[in-house]
Amino acid sequence: MKKVQLTETILRDANQSLMATRLPYGDYEGILADMDKAGYYSVECWGGATFDSCLRYLNEDPWERLRNLRKNLPNTRLQMLLRGQNLLGYKHYHDDVVEKFIELSIKNGIDVIRIFDALNDFRNIETALNATKKYAKERTVASGCISYTQSPVHTVEKYIEMCKELKTMGFDTICLKDMAGTMSPYEAEHLIKGIKDAIGDMTLVLHTHCTTGMAYMTIMKAIESGIDVIDTACSSFSGGTSQPSTETMFYALQQYGIDTGLNEDIINKVDAYFKPIKQKYVDNGQLNPKSLATDAQALVYKVPGGMLSNMIANLTDMKAMDKFEAALAEIPKVRADLGYPPLVTPLSQMVGNQAVTNVLIGERYKNISKEVKNYIKGEYGIAPAPIDPELSKKVLGDDQPVDCRIEDVKRTGEDFAAAREALGDLCRCEEDVMSYICYPDQTLKFLENKKAEAEKISVYTIEEM
Ligand code: CO
Repeated sequence: MKKVQLTETILRDANQSLMATRLPYGDYEGILADMDKAGYYSVECWGGATFDSCLRYLNEDPWERLRNLRKNLPNTRLQMLLRGQNLLGYKHYHDDVVEKFIELSIKNGIDVIRIFDALNDFRNIETALNATKKYAKERTVASGCISYTQSPVHTVEKYIEMCKELKTMGFDTICLKDMAGTMSPYEAEHLIKGIKDAIGDMTLVLHTHCTTGMAYMTIMKAIESGIDVIDTACSSFSGGTSQPSTETMFYALQQYGIDTGLNEDIINKVDAYFKPIKQKYVDNGQLNPKSLATDAQALVYKVPGGMLSNMIANLTDMKAMDKFEAALAEIPKVRADLGYPPLVTPLSQMVGNQAVTNVLIGERYKNISKEVKNYIKGEYGIAPAPIDPELSKKVLGDDQPVDCRIEDVKRTGEDFAAAREALGDLCRCEEDVMSYICYPDQTLKFLENKKAEAEKISVYTIEEM
């Protein structure tokens, strides 16, 4: 019997795509025991924006959330998304920081680490891979992830080469990450057949989004072409900028005799649990129904949904929405000038902001952001195609871009010691140190809150006695 397994994304990507990762742990603790019996390939529940959101908005310790997930999902693979050398942030961290972060992630309960680099520069995922192998437990899976995009240099042959490289590097599985939902059924068919021929029986995963309306068709073609695992979200949190629906895929695949290993009653129960939760956030405005719509514009501009809403917000702030169409049309041009980077964090923000700046000033590259300059200097990695020579000259002058990883030449200090010192007596454990290195201001504020809460409790206790 043909087998295709499903990763449930409600706790991470669906939550992130539809409601800016604002689901508190308390909202879903009650369904975890059932989810543990659903038969998913894995539950994506950590990494991405969850870590930042916990500290910044939810007054939650992300590590404690992970330990609670581990405790309540003992039989399920817990999955996280990791931005390679950027970890969960926007800058390159040093190798010892990356290694420690992975060690603690596995120690606190993560099984599957999906590792990607925005530019598909695999030098930026090697340290994370090696650390995963070093601290691996029985169920640990190192998943090498490719940021999928379309451009004249992103050919099927190129993607096959990337997959072969990931296999040679020692990854356990490979994931194609179509963050903008622009992979068409036709592309999926040719890509996946080609990759499967090249990597043999290695597990291949497809991650896509419904943003442009193609995901269900693309997934069906991917399954016909040999994909092993797909990412889906329970139906109440599916569609729009999120993933296709778990129960719908289960129903469709069952008729083809494809074994998903899922328990039908339980996946329905999981969705029934989340339905009123979704309604609660629609009612209070945290889940904007706009994010549930289909928008085929991304097929023209290759712009992920989140990037569009970000641009609209910025232009509205600046009372310049009349420049929206022009800014949108500028994005593919900036992207071409920069050597066709995939539009995923942090590149999506960088390209989007530069396009808006070019249009607002009325002269291209009169003002170049620091981030784009650093990108042109090679600090983010190697661009997929050569950068426009004129633009490059404008930024570099007669200098050459760096030809190694930036963190190898720019050590700014001892991260661990500095973080410990900054935290002082607020520091409770290694995990706090790591949180501080990733998000210093938020962590400090979070730990100060915790301390204040604890002192309040101890005062009450004394008074009661
Ligand atoms: Co995604």
